[in-house]
Formats: sequence, structure tokens, C-alpha cells
Amino acid sequence: MSKRHPERLLAIETSCDDTAAAVFEGRVLRSAVTQQQVVHEAYGGVVPELASRDHMVHIGPVVQQALREAGVAATDLGAVAVTGGPGLAGSLLVGLSYAKGMALALDVPFLSINHMEGHLFSILLDHPDTAFPWLALVVSGGHTQLVHVKGPFDYTVLGQTRDDAAGEAFDKVGNLLGLPYPGGPAIDRLAQTGNANFASFPRTHLPGYDWSFSGIKTAVRYYLQDAANAGRAEEMRAHQADLCASFQQAVIDMLVDPVRRAVRALGIQTVTVVGGVSANQGLTQALAELGHAEGFSVRWPQRRYATDNAAMIGMVAVLRRELGQTDPLNTGIRVQWPLGAR
Ligand code: KG4
Ligand code: ZN
Repeated sequence: MSKRHPERLLAIETSCDDTAAAVFEGRVLRSAVTQQQVVHEAYGGVVPELASRDHMVHIGPVVQQALREAGVAATDLGAVAVTGGPGLAGSLLVGLSYAKGMALALDVPFLSINHMEGHLFSILLDHPDTAFPWLALVVSGGHTQLVHVKGPFDYTVLGQTRDDAAGEAFDKVGNLLGLPYPGGPAIDRLAQTGNANFASFPRTHLPGYDWSFSGIKTAVRYYLQDAANAGRAEEMRAHQADLCASFQQAVIDMLVDPVRRAVRALGIQTVTVVGGVSANQGLTQALAELGHAEGFSVRWPQRRYATDNAAMIGMVAVLRRELGQTDPLNTGIRVQWPLGAR
């Protein structure tokens, strides 16, 4: 007899280079599995064609492992959810097709989830008691946004980057410094032993709550070029940790400034930091210190839910299921999918 339960849900994430699946029962996460791709390291970035081919290899085993670890048979599932966008077209297509196939075969509801909503609500995985309203600093490889979250799907984007995302700046500067891809985690690690006052990089502050990170990236490039032209390339290599700390501090100062102003303007009591860059120790520490001084609390997901994962996609699917929402099986991928657009 089928143990199919409307609250038993499978979520799949393949928007970029990680193949991930998660199983929920009600609001409880039963299991989450992520297959991290390593094929891009040699290229210094994600190669879309390699990413989609890799997803095709891993998606079946990853879904099977998540179900097995949850102790749930596919035929017990009550719904299937998948990241529908934003992301790389080829990567999104693999997950979407697989999820649709399962939903069709099992004859259960299907949901297409916005990846950025996944990051936004990933905070509820570790902190289910986070009370609305909160201010979310969403910092990933493709996005940097400040969002006023008033209810489950009631939010306003207050500001965003006008050019590079914060994670992108980390990755590009990592590349300039000869660090492995992605640069963010490596810079974070080295910065912990470096002197943030070694080099002074310019902080770009814009009116309102927007950011710009292309200036700092260029500043680091010219700084290194000038040093190399002056015969100081070796010295720069010896000061890699100091350069990381100096760059990271500049990014943190830029990220924190609009948060400080928005908290004051809106009377916010809870700030969340989500997305891959929320794994950055310097950033969360700086925000925690600011929160202590200004009287708001700061929360961020554990590392495995900060970077891309399927649990956060499942979390959004659970919230949407509670509102009785599903999507038609002819739903397509959305390479661009702004937060808030239905
Ligand atoms: O959210 P995510 O996994 O994927 C996107 O949706 O983009 O974010 C990936 C980004 C990369 O740019 C990576 O360098 C950055 O998050 N990142 C970090 C750290 N861990 C990951 N940046 C700074 N410090 C870290 N510890
Ligand atoms: Zn992401």
C-alpha cells in the first residue's frame, strides 16, 4: 500500500554547478544530499556545458541517495519541487526535466521554485523561529540584494548591486591573486591571518541601498599591476594573506553600510545573511558586532545551507504548499527571474 503523504516532498536544485536533492516531511528536513562539482577548478570558473553534462550524470544517484537516507520511497512522495530559475539554462533544464518526469510518473503536484527565494528563506532551516519582519542581506555568486521580508512571500527589494555581485568580486579577485576557484572560501581563510591595513582599497558608497563592486575589483588589479611593474611581484606573493584581508575588509565595509542605514530607517530587529558569501567569517562577525552595538540580532545559515543546496528549495516549496500553490507541468525554466516576480 502506498504511504503517499501530501506533506512528503522532494526538492531538486541544479541551477549552477551543484547537483542537490532534499526530502521534507512537513517542515522537517529528512535528508539533503549535495554533489559538488570539481570539474570547473581547472578552468577558473563554471563552464555551462560541463555543468549540465555533470548534472545529467549525478541527478539520478543524488535523488536516490536523498530518498534512501530519508527512508522514503519515491512512490510515497506527495509533491516534487525544483529550482526553475534564475541560473544557467542547461543546468536548470536537467533538474526541471527530471522533476517534471517524476511528478508526472507519480501523479503528484509539481512546483517550480525561485532560487533566490530559496536563499531568502534558507534561514528558516536552522532558525525556524525567525519572526517577520526581517532584513535579509542576500549575498551569492550572482546576486547581492537587500530585502525587507514582511511575510512568507511579502517582501520588498530595497537595493542591489549595479554591476558585480559580492561573490563575483571575491571570485575575480581570487583569480587575480592566483587562488583556486571559487575564490571566496580561499580569501576568507587567508584573510584570517592577514593584516587588513596592508593595502587601502577604495570603498564605493552609493545613495540609497545599492552597491557597486566593479571598482574594488579594478583597484586590486591595478594595485597588483603597479606592484609588478615596480618589480615587487614577489613581495605581493609574500603578502597574499594581507592582500586578502585588505580586500575582504573593503567588501565587508561596503556590504555593512546599507544594512546599518536600513535597520535604522525601518526599525529592524532581525537581520539575516544568506547566500554563499554568508559563509564568510569576517562578514558575519562584522554584522554580529554591528548588531550588538545597534541592538538587533543577526542570523545566518550553517555553511551547507549558505551555498547552493536543495534544502532551501524544499523550504520554499513547503511554504508554498501551505498556501495551496502548485505549478503546471508546462512551466519552463526562467534564466532571469527577479525576486518577487510570479
Ligand atoms: O549561493 P552560492 O553558493 O551560489 C550562487 O547562487 O551564486 O554562492 C557562491 C558564491 C561564490 O562566489 C563563492 O566564492 C562565495 O559564494 N563564497 C564565499 C565564501 N564561501 C562561498 N565568499 C566569501 N567567503 C566565503 N567563505
Ligand atoms: Zn545560490
